[in-house]
Amino acid sequence: MLMSLNRRLSRSWCLMALCLLLVACGGKSGNSKSTQGSPPPGADDEPIAEEASFNTAQGFTVLREPQPRLPLDEPEREFTDADFAAGLPAVKITVPEGLDQSVNQPPYIDNLANVQVVAGEVLEVIYRPQDPEGDIPGMFPNKLPQGSEFADNFDGTKTFRWQPLQMDVGVLQFTVTAVDPVNSAYRSSHPIMIKVVMPKDPATIPNVAPMLDEVLPHTARAGDPVVFELKGIDLNGTIPTLELPDPPAGASFNPHPRFEEVFVLKFTPAEAGEISVPVLARDSVDTSLSSVQNINLTVLAADAFEVPGSALKTLGAARNVQMGFAALQSFYHRPDGGIYAATAVREYDIVTPENSMKMDYINPEPGRYQFAATDNLIAFAQANGMSVHAHPLVWYRQLPGWIESAALADLETHMREYIQRIMGRYADAVSVWDVINEPLESNGQFRDSNPDTGSIWYQAMGPAYIDKALTLARQLDPESSLLINEFDIGMAGAKFDGLMRLVDDLQAREIPLDGIGFQLHVFSSFDQFDELRANFAAVAERGLDIYITELDVALTEGGTPSQQALVYREIAAACLEQPRCRAIQTWGLTDQYSFRTHFDPLPFDRSYQPKSAYEALQSALEP
Ligand code: XIL
Repeated sequence: MLMSLNRRLSRSWCLMALCLLLVACGGKSGNSKSTQGSPPPGADDEPIAEEASFNTAQGFTVLREPQPRLPLDEPEREFTDADFAAGLPAVKITVPEGLDQSVNQPPYIDNLANVQVVAGEVLEVIYRPQDPEGDIPGMFPNKLPQGSEFADNFDGTKTFRWQPLQMDVGVLQFTVTAVDPVNSAYRSSHPIMIKVVMPKDPATIPNVAPMLDEVLPHTARAGDPVVFELKGIDLNGTIPTLELPDPPAGASFNPHPRFEEVFVLKFTPAEAGEISVPVLARDSVDTSLSSVQNINLTVLAADAFEVPGSALKTLGAARNVQMGFAALQSFYHRPDGGIYAATAVREYDIVTPENSMKMDYINPEPGRYQFAATDNLIAFAQANGMSVHAHPLVWYRQLPGWIESAALADLETHMREYIQRIMGRYADAVSVWDVINEPLESNGQFRDSNPDTGSIWYQAMGPAYIDKALTLARQLDPESSLLINEFDIGMAGAKFDGLMRLVDDLQAREIPLDGIGFQLHVFSSFDQFDELRANFAAVAERGLDIYITELDVALTEGGTPSQQALVYREIAAACLEQPRCRAIQTWGLTDQYSFRTHFDPLPFDRSYQPKSAYEALQSALEP
């Protein structure tokens, strides 16, 4: 912890020095209006080759960031001392429709208060739910701190018990909800804040055994290399060492080159079977303290991954449509990276980086760039004959803090520089750009200054930010397709109408635009196929290409795989009816890594087996 604090301090000193330098240079121009730029990437941002023992990649060389990690390891706390001092947050009462509150009043909890505790001490609070009508309400907690318990005392009360340690210092909040004894939908949720402070003598805090960070179950293919990035956690804030008491045959096990608490295990399981590897985490202060956890892997024989019928890209090529997916960042650092890559290569001929080209990731600090993940994806795509669909250049979300806090007057400079630097690096490799992502509110108006949904780009430049970005993008990459990408435009309504107004306006003023990206994050209950067809037609009529950019179909409660498949088939069919349908891309490929993973929305399941959704895509593509 101290180490990273030092790094952080030295980095902020560097930044301060840099700012002073920039201020001094800015002063020279004598320009009083602030249009301060940020430094371009330098040689020290150039990725370097990673040793093969850290990844599963085959057919291309994986690069990694050259710099030490960013100080991301100490997440900003959501709550502050001021929040704690402001007292107990407001209770939230949920009243079911039709309930008469003059007859049945909401349940509540006795003697609630925010609590302060010293790290290392055990906190115990008894919560007693009450109901004005006399019965004992039910009660359950939410967002309990890691390592705490909420034990039933079998008399209606429950005891919250927690021994916070160094890692917990700060303010956090959890909620306790009381449930009405008569109507269980009638509830009152009470947020409670806990402030953990350091004791005068830190030596009084007990040293606990470190642990291995949770590893998800995975399925891999026999004969593929497997890597596990194993992370040790110590709630005392120190960094444990990891050891392998019983390593798999032929395994390598090395400390990660950038992350002190991570060790990388690599081996190649030759045959199908269940593999369990014990990992020991050892305390760095008291080496007699340790714990052992097993990591588990299911290995299936290669033929278990064979897929009947033609690959999507083969069927797509015959229909003049590219078939693609969004690639999980650093899939080659995952245990199942081998079968992930093999599935992608077999099925798809266009790929979008799911996260690595977002501004918060690729340009996290002024003058600091993280290119390795995108470089790697491009190397993977090129080694396998895939086109690259870049995403996104200008978006209101996933922005770095330095952009979010930049002066509005500087944002045009930052936007232009950013587009120049990213397109300058990647234009040759990219065939499609999501230049503008999600410019509209659900009412079809521009995202403006709403603190939750607004766009700082709009605040800084008005709608002209769109013209500026598209015009600059065309100058920098005259060959590629430039898109506006948007969600909730698969049906009729104010949002799609607003998008068409925007398109008409851009076209009237000859602002470059080649196509519309339909995200299509939908649900298995989706049935507005006629509206979707009409929207595709409206885009085509305007001489624009149609891209399905982020298709996934979440299984709603009660939804069935066959409904999901039907939605996939109908959406693909609707696009294919249009000669201007250029690509159909899903947002991910396996449910294992979907950003909507709880809804199993993708064509492949967690074991890379094709679902009916996959067969539906095949059947829609068949001539
Ligand atoms: C999502 C990614 O899938 C997540 O991993 C990330 O945490 C948040 O962003 N619309 C978009 C995508 O344009 O960039 C979003 O991707 C999904 C919604």
